[in-house]
Amino acid sequence: MPIETIRWVGDENGYAELIDQTLLPIRKEYIKCSDVRQMWSAIRVLSIRGAPALGVAAAMGLVLGLKESQASDTGNLIKDLKKQKEYLETSRPTAVNLFWALERLEAVAFENRTLPPVELKRKLLQEALQIQEEDRRICRAIGRNGAELLNDGDGVLTHCNAGALATADYGTALAVIYAAHQAGMNVSVFADETRPLLQGARLTTWELKEADIPVTLICDSMAAQVMREGKVDAVIVGADRIAANGDTANKIGTYALSIIAKEHGVPFYVAAPISTIDMKLLHGDDIPIEQRDPEEITQWGERRIAPAGIEVYNPAFDVTPAANIDAIITERGVIKRPTANKIETHIE
Ligand code: MRU
Repeated sequence: MPIETIRWVGDENGYAELIDQTLLPIRKEYIKCSDVRQMWSAIRVLSIRGAPALGVAAAMGLVLGLKESQASDTGNLIKDLKKQKEYLETSRPTAVNLFWALERLEAVAFENRTLPPVELKRKLLQEALQIQEEDRRICRAIGRNGAELLNDGDGVLTHCNAGALATADYGTALAVIYAAHQAGMNVSVFADETRPLLQGARLTTWELKEADIPVTLICDSMAAQVMREGKVDAVIVGADRIAANGDTANKIGTYALSIIAKEHGVPFYVAAPISTIDMKLLHGDDIPIEQRDPEEITQWGERRIAPAGIEVYNPAFDVTPAANIDAIITERGVIKRPTANKIETHIE
């Protein structure tokens, strides 16, 4: 059974519960989000994170936002929806799934504008739960499609966390590992610790250990050496946004990993749902990259590890050019050596 990262409790006046990922692996605790501001903060501080999970969280956040609406007619409810949508869009900029899910709910509201407000709120909750349910099936399909690229005994290196904690089921990059294991393959994992917020060390190792899958933690800077030693047969990462030409934004450090993989002749795969492909952006340079608090780098927990007042640059994501990607794995199959044409045909 995959970990239940986020769930809705009750009807359209209910609330969301999510694992506070900032506490892992020390404590596994659910926090309650009863209003849209709590969900905004949970997204902002990374209590919930990972592109597909952010889609589900944003959709539930919008339902929470509408709980407060006093609108007595649907026209005004839709106006409130637009305000809450704009607010949630300011939480994090890179993962397109967040925007995609909000747009999907807005479209449902527009299609159902003849319904009374109470029924429309119910409909929007159904849509949020539908996004979550679809993501479960998508994770399984990505896992099956990706597992075909692996062989028994392979070592796979992954970066950040693209597993159960980042989705509604058992992940994207990690779905491939889980599916390979279910198919009886003995696949082991090298997890990059993923500076600065350590999603690899804290989350990927935790969830793979829970699933009894062999995992070895390494510092990000060790990836080249581990590949040089011949221990890695494939790199598999998730994605926050894929441009129409295949350029892929993912956690900072992914681009460097793609270069190292190329140098060592190790295949580099991106596993992501089709909802992560942003056909509105022609190439990766247009992907908005989140800039985060300098303290994520200058502090180690409570302790300062850099001189006070030091200049810091802290982009949370980078862009891997399509040329460095051997394949993109989606719920529909595998796009080998991705190009704009191949991606367009794939998603048709
Ligand atoms: O900052 P985060 O933890 O939200 O970054 C997450 C990633 O970079 C993941 O690899 C990506 O969202 C894919 S999750 C299936």
